[in-house]
Amino acid sequence: MSAVQIVATTPFDDQRPGTSGLRKKVQVFQQPHYLENFVQSIFDAVEVDPRRPLVLGGDGRYYNRQAIGVILRIAAANGVKRVLVGRDGLLSTPAASCVIRKHHAFGGIILSASHNPGGPEGDFGIKFNTANGGPAPEAVTEAIYRRSREIDRYRILSEQPSFPLDQIGSHALGEMVVEIIDPVADYAELMESLFDFQALRTLLQGGFRLCFDAMHAVTGPYACEILERRLGAPEGTVINATPLEDFGGGHPDPNLTYAKDLVERLYGPDAPDMGAASDGDGDRNMILGRGFFVSPSDSLAVLTAHHRAAPGYDRPLAGVARSMPTSRAVDRVAQALEIPCYETPTGWKFFGNLLDAGRITLCGEESFGTGSDHVREKDGLWAVLFWLNVLAREQRGVEEIVRAHWRRFGRDYYTRHDYEGIDSKRAHTLMDQLRERLPTLPGSRIGTLTVESADDFRYTDPVDGSVSEHQGIRIHFAEDARAVFRLSGTGTQGATLRVYLERYEPDPARQDRDPQQVLAEVITAARELARIPQLLDRETPDVIT
Ligand code: G1P
Ligand code: ZN
Repeated sequence: MSAVQIVATTPFDDQRPGTSGLRKKVQVFQQPHYLENFVQSIFDAVEVDPRRPLVLGGDGRYYNRQAIGVILRIAAANGVKRVLVGRDGLLSTPAASCVIRKHHAFGGIILSASHNPGGPEGDFGIKFNTANGGPAPEAVTEAIYRRSREIDRYRILSEQPSFPLDQIGSHALGEMVVEIIDPVADYAELMESLFDFQALRTLLQGGFRLCFDAMHAVTGPYACEILERRLGAPEGTVINATPLEDFGGGHPDPNLTYAKDLVERLYGPDAPDMGAASDGDGDRNMILGRGFFVSPSDSLAVLTAHHRAAPGYDRPLAGVARSMPTSRAVDRVAQALEIPCYETPTGWKFFGNLLDAGRITLCGEESFGTGSDHVREKDGLWAVLFWLNVLAREQRGVEEIVRAHWRRFGRDYYTRHDYEGIDSKRAHTLMDQLRERLPTLPGSRIGTLTVESADDFRYTDPVDGSVSEHQGIRIHFAEDARAVFRLSGTGTQGATLRVYLERYEPDPARQDRDPQQVLAEVITAARELARIPQLLDRETPDVIT
């Protein structure tokens, strides 16, 4: 009755995992054998340890449940003995990382396309995390990809799982045990070990008003349990709390454009003291004060400066890291703390080696990602709890804390301009042309700015010595400004050019201006340098964050 079927198949040519796993339209995943091929490629490329469990869960988007059924049958047919599945098939990305580590799993499969829209017309995604709880390193994703190019059969149990996913308990599937676990419990326990929950209770029950927007995505159950039930924040603190397969038609990306409900409340009359949002799979975060936006680069710097407020970080930090395009705000704090600060390529996996080697404690990206050595993914709700802990300790508001930070360290004005859905050939031409001109740029004047140095970011991992080339073009200006250019590695349609712009302002009297205005000269210089209007035929970016 639990026979293993060996199904003949042929490779698909588009299963190379990007920076965040394999991400495609739902319809692509729904093709016969498509998901099966990729999952079998994982089990062919990664050694299954029969003594250790596999973790499985996702952000609850459309196709999550069907995929879980298929993956369980393939896992059982490939010698996995135990799988831990989040109830209802849910596990946020950071919670999956936590569960993998806590239960000594040999790895985990996370089903998510992060902040990309969901639903039958939306995106789906799958990624493999290794035993440290982090995204698989490039060697592993390459091995999975190589296998997917030559696959000719997959193993699958003929038996369909007949048990409900919505109740905690253990079930047999062939010779494998499927344990449905509470997706929140392990994670909530970890948060309780890091933050001063007593101080947070006092804050949240003492009139401080928080609004957390779960954007109809996976953090709803996590935020309700932790913020409302365990910390006693008033009911209704969490909005859009029910995970929906299509995220209610929204785009579950926590930024000023997509977290509309939240932004309206925080910039409207009678605004709460703090606003926060997380993305589809719970790893991103946005922090708002009353009518005030905290840039993710500043958020990392502020948490680093105030790390001692949280009991889990009340010790000297080993070091910090930021992705290359993230502003240099955290570098200034690291310098004051006399700790190392690493600059890594975009993508969380580059932090993994540094975290595993104990070289860094906190890290983050400009793209609304912040995290620490507590798991091996960025962690949205963790960042919110950290901020609350800082506020509880400081007895000041979000805006006051950030402004005080700027006065002390200077302000790194920052913005990112995205040109989306551009023809991929044009995008590559733009990058190639810019790359070719790099050696000629230093010393040249563009408008009011002078190029000081220009390079194509190349990263040597300080832990294992591996080298990653072409990680983005950096232009430093003598006026303490910087422009960075790179192409997105996570899009599913055409190419996206990201232009990151920043300028340092040490003078407290000049820290209250509009970033787009302060950065106008850097924006113009960047457009000219890369010849954006000519090569892309675009006058303005699609998204400004
Ligand atoms: C984007 C972000 C990057 C982040 C990744 C996954 O990647 O820019 O910082 O790590 O999503 O959340 P990109 O599309 O730029 O390659
Ligand atoms: Zn995400």
